[in-house]
Formats: sequence, C-alpha cells, structure tokens
Amino acid sequence: MRTPIIAGNWKMNMTAAQAVEFVREIRRGLNNVQGVDAVICPPAIAIPGVFDALSATKIGVGAQNMHYEEKGAFTGELAPNMITPFCKYVILGHSERRAYFGETDEGVNKKIKAALAHGLTPMVCVGESLEQNEAGETQSFVGGQVKAAFAGLTAEQAAQCVIAYEPIWAIGTGKSASAALAGSIIGLTVRGSIADMFGEATAQKVRIQYGGSVNEDNIAEYMSHPDIDGALVGGAALKPSFVQLVERAK
Ligand code: PGA
Repeated sequence: MRTPIIAGNWKMNMTAAQAVEFVREIRRGLNNVQGVDAVICPPAIAIPGVFDALSATKIGVGAQNMHYEEKGAFTGELAPNMITPFCKYVILGHSERRAYFGETDEGVNKKIKAALAHGLTPMVCVGESLEQNEAGETQSFVGGQVKAAFAGLTAEQAAQCVIAYEPIWAIGTGKSASAALAGSIIGLTVRGSIADMFGEATAQKVRIQYGGSVNEDNIAEYMSHPDIDGALVGGAALKPSFVQLVERAK
C-alpha cells in the first residue's frame, strides 16, 4: 500500500514572515489528517522558519530545488547539506526550472543522485508541453524524461523517490488533465518506465503524484484513480483550504 503524498509547491510566493504566519494558521488542521503525508515546499529563505513552526508536527518540509555539488563557486545555489537540517524532501526538475533556468535531464539525474546520497526524498517532476501533447508525443517524451532522470539508480534508490507527472499545459492554467487521462499516463508511461528499468515490484513501490491545477474540489477524483498516489499542488497550496485538499486525499 502506497501512502498518499500531497506536496504544496509555493514557488516564488510569500516572504519568510508571511510563510511562518501561514503555516501557523494551517498546521493544526494539516497535522490532524491521518494516512496522508503532507509536505510544504516554501521559498528557500523561508525554509528554516517554516521548519521551526512545523517542528512539533508530522508535516514535512521540502526545498524547491538544490545543486548537486557539495559546495563551491555556484552563485545563488544551495548545496544538499544546506537543506538537510530542515528538509526531508526536495522538488527536482520542475518544468519551470527546466523552461526558465535551463535544467536538463542530465542535471536532474545528478541532483536525484545527490539528494539520495544525502537522505533526501526527491520529488522528480516530468511532463509534456501542449505542443508535444497535441503532436501525440506524450508517452515517448515523458517516458524519456523518466528514463533519463532515473538512469544509473539502483532499484532500492528508485523506490525511495516520488515522481510528479505534471503536464505543462495544466500547470497554473485551471485546465487540469482528467483523472482518467492523468491516471493512464501515470500508470502506463511513468510507472511503466520504472517497471522497464527496475522491475514491476519496484514500480509498485514508487509514489507518483499528479500535478497541474489540482484544488480542494478535484483532488478526490484524482485520488480515486488507483495509479495516482497524491498531488503536487501550486496555487491551491497558498490558501487555508489546502487543509481540506489534504483531508480529501485520504
Ligand atoms: P498549479 O501548479 O497547481 O498552480 O497548477 C502545480 C505545479 O507547478 O507544481
């Protein structure tokens, strides 16, 4: 049985002070939800404050990115051991990082290996663009992203990862993919690629989220699909109703 996991990706929203105020407001409600792993991924500068505010809860904290190197001349970046005192999770390869900051499959692969070496749970994002979707390239493109991201991992390492399937055309647009469509890509293409690489038993262990315009009203539909194990949530994670969203993921 895979425990559902709902992660809030705040992106570049909330100051450190606003972040602490907001998590104080939602922490009790979130912490009361049983049987769902809830994770908050605030901007980097808010991570220590959010970690402190959540220290008496079981709510996880995640970073939105990190570098794969241990240290060095990488202006503006954070090394794995800078986030591990606060974070159990790290989002890697989000489509916005790939589109605006030049992240490549190769870099994402290095980051996954570095995260695992530091005991972090990577939340690895994959997903096709509207053009790729309309050209019928979803399966080949997303399957290729999964295979590139997980290249060189052991089955044990792969099983520890979380994957988020986020069709780019559904992110922040209100045009969410149907649960049936998302579930079939997740089952056949994402879990299928993990099965090709590491075997079916490993594929059955990996938790795979859907992401893209998930909210408190549509989460239950996604969760009713047997292959969808949770969600990576952007805009709807910035509101107090994120608590209801997590409650409905059971
Ligand atoms: P959204 O973002 O929920 O605002 O569509 C999801 C994401 O980018 O992770």
